Amino acid sequence: MSLKKLTKAVIPVAGLGTRFLPATKAIPKEMLTVVDKPLIQYIVHEAAEAGITDIILVTHSSKAAIENHFDKHYELESELNLRGKSDRMVSLEEITPKGVRIVSVRQPEALGLGHAILCAEPVIADNEPFAVLLPDVLMYHPRKGCLAQMTQQYKKMHTSVVALEAVAEDQVEKYGIAGVKGPDMRIVELVEKPKPQEAPSNLSVVGRYIFTPRLMELLKDTKPGAGGEIQLTDAMDQLLEEEVMFGFEFKNGHTYDCGDKQGYLQANVEYALRDAQLGKGFKQYLKGLKF
Ligand code: G1P
Repeated sequence: MSLKKLTKAVIPVAGLGTRFLPATKAIPKEMLTVVDKPLIQYIVHEAAEAGITDIILVTHSSKAAIENHFDKHYELESELNLRGKSDRMVSLEEITPKGVRIVSVRQPEALGLGHAILCAEPVIADNEPFAVLLPDVLMYHPRKGCLAQMTQQYKKMHTSVVALEAVAEDQVEKYGIAGVKGPDMRIVELVEKPKPQEAPSNLSVVGRYIFTPRLMELLKDTKPGAGGEIQLTDAMDQLLEEEVMFGFEFKNGHTYDCGDKQGYLQANVEYALRDAQLGKGFKQYLKGLKF
């Protein structure tokens, strides 16, 4: 049976964001803004740019603000229309990319990233590949987003593709780490949050994945691993026994780990510096800072 086209992406947003308390007590961490847009909006646009038409949010009862953000806000729109504020209308219309549908499923218990992805299973057909984007990770590229680049590779090979990025050795314990072989970065091993001395390399799994349908099947049998959670990385490691999987190096772009305060602040500064309206003035302000 030939594989279906890649049109679906799963974005897990059920996590409670404890690292950003108190900011995330009543606001989902995915709604924290980078300059003038919430993180989740950048992620949805990256998916749309890659040709994704169906986005599945795996969410939690406390995260309704995310669904509201992508929903129509009739009162606000008619008010802006009445007041003739068409520029602000445009930015509202740009929230959900044209041709993209967003649905949500719930993750009833916080059993891990692998479990969250498995919650999207009813929405993904048997022989359907799918992408996963982790919303904590913002990936900037001046021309072509990370998932769009990975999709190009997927279309040639029809194997799973995982974005990888080198990290300092003392950081490997924070990530999924891949062992790779050869110039085409064929993945031979995957370990979730290894101790530095046990890590197969310093190549971390960044938070962008394209999977063949088999991954979803394997997730059904994945037992709790690191941290007592059902780990996506463990199901991926299983998949390596059956299928070829390639690492993907994101070139000439920049990755911001917005699940971390320092990374989040850096994203704000650098996105502001790149902003067509704010950039110049903000740069001058930074230059004049005396700290
Ligand atoms: C998750 C994944 C990990 C990956 C990381 C990227 O970990 O389990 O493999 O490297 O995202 O940010 P978490 O950050 O949820 O602990």
